[in-house]
Amino acid sequence: MRHIPLIPLLELPENSHKSVLSGKKQIALFHYEGRITALGNCCIHEGGDLGQGFIQRLDDGELYVACPWHGWQYNLKSGKAPHGYEDRQDLYDVIVENGMIMVSEEPVKKAFRAAHAVDPLADLRNLEYQTTMKSLNVLGISTTNMNRDLARPSTSETALQSALDFAASEFGAATKMIKIRDLDFRHCEGYYSRHEKACTWPCSISEMVPEDGMSDVYRAMVLWADAVILATPIRWGNASSLFYKMAERLNTVQNQITIHDKVLIKNKVASFIITGGQDNVQGVAGNLNSFFTDLGFILPPFNFVGWSRGWIAEDTENNYNAFFRSRYVKRSVKELVTNTLRLVIQVKHMDVADLHTPKPDISEAGTLLE
Ligand code: FES
Repeated sequence: MRHIPLIPLLELPENSHKSVLSGKKQIALFHYEGRITALGNCCIHEGGDLGQGFIQRLDDGELYVACPWHGWQYNLKSGKAPHGYEDRQDLYDVIVENGMIMVSEEPVKKAFRAAHAVDPLADLRNLEYQTTMKSLNVLGISTTNMNRDLARPSTSETALQSALDFAASEFGAATKMIKIRDLDFRHCEGYYSRHEKACTWPCSISEMVPEDGMSDVYRAMVLWADAVILATPIRWGNASSLFYKMAERLNTVQNQITIHDKVLIKNKVASFIITGGQDNVQGVAGNLNSFFTDLGFILPPFNFVGWSRGWIAEDTENNYNAFFRSRYVKRSVKELVTNTLRLVIQVKHMDVADLHTPKPDISEAGTLLE
């Protein structure tokens, strides 16, 4: 077996690890418990840099490196994933000669990624769209928050329900309502900030926890919906915090454009219902419009219903009644739905095979280190 010199032993003191280039291959070297070991550096999940991983001792008493991107773990001595998983990382033989760390030219055990009998995210991974030329699927997303046991009337959510009812009765649409407050889901954990490719589709959090509530949103928004009508209250001049919690997790959709020039949302239309005791309807609408076009949605003309009683309306107990006495609200919700669904019907015929995305592309980013 031929070994290749990598670095002097002095450069890898006890209790340290690093990645080293060997020809065209990156090797992760580890020096723990008096032993030097070498694994392929590129994590078999999505390519994370194991040389920058975290060393952890697991229940079996062995040391593992946890990938810094999403935490997949590999035994330092065998390259194997923890008990219960078949996956393994490339394992190299190591010798030290004349103070030089040398590793085998080829791995003595090759990396292996086990196929899972059941992939709970297969429909997302394979983009199994449920829309057709004839479908008229309208997804309502309510982002208002409230105590589940002490439900209160919500202007935005009630208007959204009216919009869905009108879409069903007047257009024969199939409708679905997702109340974000009913979903248990983790905050975006910012893997993008570690590396742009660490933000994956499907979202790595969904891969870790398939029952994470955002999987419902991904399925409904990306695979099922022709139109999305999102309703939000105005909170401190902005959309609700639940909207932002959801929006951050939708980075996985937008990031596909940046990294792979892959647009997941095509021929879909978005519109909004924005209500609040105090004002900033236009500010919220501008924010929502910008975000949803960045995902790939198309916006109809006059695509939001806004309602506010203004800065001094501290008698909030009157909001709900005032909202539903308003002839403007009744009319505008119907017109919002009409504009939205008319556009859906038109865009179904739009050829988006080579949709242009004038967004930053990772290949254009360069690096500050250049
Ligand atoms: S855990 Fe290594 S890239 Fe995802």
